[in-house]
Amino acid sequence: MGKKKKAPRKILGVDIGGSGIKGAPVQTRTGELISERYRIPTPQPATPKAVAETVHEIMKATGWKKPIGCTVPGRVVRGVVQTAANIDDAWIGTDARSLFSKVCGVPVAVLNDADAAGVAEMKYGAGKKEEGTTLLLTFGTGIGSALFVDGCLVPNTEFGHIRYDHRIAEHVAADSVRTKEHLSWEKWAKRRVQPVLEMYEFLLAPDLIIVGGGVSKPERWEIFSPFLDTKAKLVPAALGNEAGIVGAALACREMLKAG
Ligand code: BGC
Repeated sequence: MGKKKKAPRKILGVDIGGSGIKGAPVQTRTGELISERYRIPTPQPATPKAVAETVHEIMKATGWKKPIGCTVPGRVVRGVVQTAANIDDAWIGTDARSLFSKVCGVPVAVLNDADAAGVAEMKYGAGKKEEGTTLLLTFGTGIGSALFVDGCLVPNTEFGHIRYDHRIAEHVAADSVRTKEHLSWEKWAKRRVQPVLEMYEFLLAPDLIIVGGGVSKPERWEIFSPFLDTKAKLVPAALGNEAGIVGAALACREMLKAG
């Protein structure tokens, strides 16, 4: 086994989303952002090269010259993006780790966005010290998932793509569907989210379900969570929009420790 290296505590985390690319230096000892979040609208079309250049812009804007962590809204195996449900098709097969490192001039750790949010929530947020099976779900443009067993991540689960009622779950219950179909919070929660949650509970029997994404904001959570009923403890994510940034920084630290 390789000897673990000393890794810096302060690391720039970057979260790549459909509408914005956000980054901030993170104190990985506490999970706090060291300075304000910097946001640049996602370039359109959001090709790998254009996105990599935007990530580099964020580095320059924050004066960052050291390794960084980066999320991608798709399955990422050893730095290579394998799916692109809500991003440009050009991402499929892209070695994002090599591309970002080349464009940014530093080593870059790349992981799935929901996995990053989950890692941050488990360490500093709603899943802190949680044992057993924890499922984090992000409801946004799609449905992202991160599965933890005794705090250990099972990466790249993509539960948003399991079929429910002959349709892809995220096409039924993502938050973007609520807006697109003009569903009330009650209807969305009862008719869309509840059955999808029941399916996840049946398949995975989680002890805890953490709901992340924009819908975890207290003012939204208060409106729709009373319509949900799960066997597992159901809680909103605690780190809000910062979870992806924090998780990306933590992933980079792990990469540097491993050498
Ligand atoms: C993607 C996932 C991603 C989720 C949230 C899904 O469509 O397949 O990889 O985590 O959206 O962005």
